[in-house]
Amino acid sequence: MKEVALVSEEAARPLHFAAFVMNTTSHIVQGTWRRPSSRSADFNDLDHWVNLAKTLERGKFDAIFFADVVGLYAPYRGDERKYFEAGLQVPSNDPSVLASAIAYATEHLGIAFTASILQEHPFNFARRISTLDHATKGRIAWNIVTNYLPNASRNFGLEGLTAHDARYAWADEYVDVAYKLWEGSWEDDALLQDRERGVHADYDKVHRINYVGERYRVEGPHLVSPSPSAPHFSSSPARPRRAAGSRRAMPRRCSSPVRIAKAH
Ligand SMILES: Cc1cc2nc3c(=O)[nH]c(=O)nc-3n(C[C@H](O)[C@H](O)[C@H](O)COP(=O)(O)O)c2cc1C
Repeated sequence: MKEVALVSEEAARPLHFAAFVMNTTSHIVQGTWRRPSSRSADFNDLDHWVNLAKTLERGKFDAIFFADVVGLYAPYRGDERKYFEAGLQVPSNDPSVLASAIAYATEHLGIAFTASILQEHPFNFARRISTLDHATKGRIAWNIVTNYLPNASRNFGLEGLTAHDARYAWADEYVDVAYKLWEGSWEDDALLQDRERGVHADYDKVHRINYVGERYRVEGPHLVSPSPSAPHFSSSPARPRRAAGSRRAMPRRCSSPVRIAKAH
């Protein structure tokens, strides 16, 4: 009799766990901060995040994943008072700042944080990610979002929310610039640190990217030397390393491109 596989190939794939949090009191589970045993109101305290990260690592989680927004939600029934009174994602702190402390206190927990294309010029953002990739020994991941809050757009000088497709075209260009910096600037072996010869880096292996696009112009080179896992930030597993200039599959959802750092 033919043997029937009890577990499908799909089901045999490992299950990964990521804690979905935000650097604020109430992310999506509202009101629980009032419980005497809750620590979520301690979000201003670095110990809170370091302790949580250590607990997650002990519990075999793969990653801690920080959601983020950079503005207020639309007024609730015409009033935004409720958000402040109930602590609904306000006040909220920058999640990227927590990454090095979490990395220092843990060994293999992946650290993903959300950042919108609104927030920062891609040259600087690529530098931040590369620096964090070094600091975390390759455990950082970026959740790129285009922002859906009109208040956030106005915080960054726009009149209001950019139309959906225009936001995604913007995101496409943003990621292009970042990838060109990650992939097309420093060759893998450009950093020599050769004490004997007194040569720190091989100038001929560091390239300007000379990017000129709709929104951005970036000469380069990237200021950070190749980091442990960059540029593997794409959700597209087929994307080869050193594929600068190639069109990447631009993800349309919030969770991409995100590399949930190495499972242990
Ligand atoms: C589970 C989940 C989490 C999300 N987290 C964030 C977030 O942290 N920050 C953010 O700006 N958008 C977040 N979004 C919104 C997405 O970035 C996206 O705007 C939304 O899914 C609507 O898709 P669209 O932009 O293609 O219309 C999240 C969406 C989902 C489904």
